[in-house]
Parts: sequence; C-alpha cells; structure tokens
Amino acid sequence: MSTLPTQYSSTLTEETLDLVANTISQQGYIVLTDALPPGLVSSLLAKAVTHATHFKPAGIGRNQQHQLNNTIRTDRICWLSASNNAESAYLLEMEALRIAMNKRLFMGLFDYEAHFAHYPCDAFYKKHVDAFKGLTNRVLTTVFYLNSNWDKKDGGDLVIYDTNTGAPLHVNPKAGILVIFLSDEFPHEVKKVYKDRYSIAGWFRVNSSSLTKVDPEY
Ligand code: OGA
Ligand code: MN
Repeated sequence: MSTLPTQYSSTLTEETLDLVANTISQQGYIVLTDALPPGLVSSLLAKAVTHATHFKPAGIGRNQQHQLNNTIRTDRICWLSASNNAESAYLLEMEALRIAMNKRLFMGLFDYEAHFAHYPCDAFYKKHVDAFKGLTNRVLTTVFYLNSNWDKKDGGDLVIYDTNTGAPLHVNPKAGILVIFLSDEFPHEVKKVYKDRYSIAGWFRVNSSSLTKVDPEY
C-alpha cells in the first residue's frame, strides 16, 4: 500500500475542471479515466477491502423514508469520514470539484456526502434515479471505481440511460474512472457482478434549509 503525503492537495487540474464543467453543461454527464493518482486509488481500495466485512446493507430513501429492499439493490456500504488519510484526500479532491463547479456553472453546491460500496458476487442495483426533481437536495452524482484487473466478464457495468440520445452508456468499473452526472436527469443501474466490486458513490447537495427544516439534519 502506498502512503499519502500528510499535506495532500487536490490533483485536479484547471484543464480537467474546465472539461468537466463544459461537458456537464452540454450533456449532463462525463466519464473521466485516470481521474485521481494511482497511490490514492490503491489506498482507498485497501481501506475498502479490509473494512468490507463491516459494511452495512444499503437502503433506499433518506432519513425517515430509509428502508432496506434487496430486490432493488444488494450492495453494502460505509460512509466516508475525514478521519482516515485516504478518505480525507478523496474528500479534498471532491471539495476542489465542488468549488470548481460552483465557480464555473453557479451550481450552488453546498456539501458532499459519499460512501464506499461493495458489491459481492451476484450483487446489483436495479435501474433508478438518485434524485427526484424538486424533492431532494442531491444535485450532482459522482461514482469512483477502485477495481484493479476488472474484465468485461466480471460484469458490474454501470449503465446510464441518456434520454436525449436513447443509447445506454456502459461503463466498465475499472480503477481510476470517475463518472459524474446530474442526479435527477439520468436513470442508471449496476449490472450483476461476478466478482467483488468496490466503488465510492457520492452526491453534491444544495442547501434545502427553510424556516421549519434545518439542513443538513444532525
Ligand atoms: C448508487 C449508484 C453506481 C455504481 O450508488 O446510487 O448508482 O456504478 N452506483 O456503483
Ligand atoms: Mn445511483
């Protein structure tokens, strides 16, 4: 396992951030390969693999609406925390992305939440959207893959349904790929996996505080 510098700073270049902003504003999604340093990817994978036995079954819906439903998804998750080096480095990269999107696209992204996901053999996540227009504060989804040696036969493609072109986009979940898309625009699914699959799913959110509701809920 590689060690990360104690003073980690974002590696996302201005060119990459420009490309992300332009592509998101034109087509609503982007697939970046080799998005983050290999040392960070391997540290995150090591963390996910060693802690996978403690991951919890993922549910659907948030807070009071949260429920388990293993006909829809069978992955297991663990929320990222800034107390771990690799996780803080990842969160720092996403913070740079958040600031860049706000600066370039005025998205008003307020915070970011992310979890590791482990799909054991046979796991899947049926077609869904991450957010319903007007009903949620999740605006922009990120999925980052950690799997080295991933082959087509291992399954687990992320399939994004682009309602504009009608052609589904298949993403093979190989280490270093970062997918970013508008949370309420693109139905997507995770095809059944035939080997342990590790990723980090995350959401940039806008603040939905009002007189009667404090956001985020603590
Ligand atoms: C999700 C999700 C996609 C993936 O967690 O909401 O759609 O490829 N994940 O892991
Ligand atoms: Mn999703």
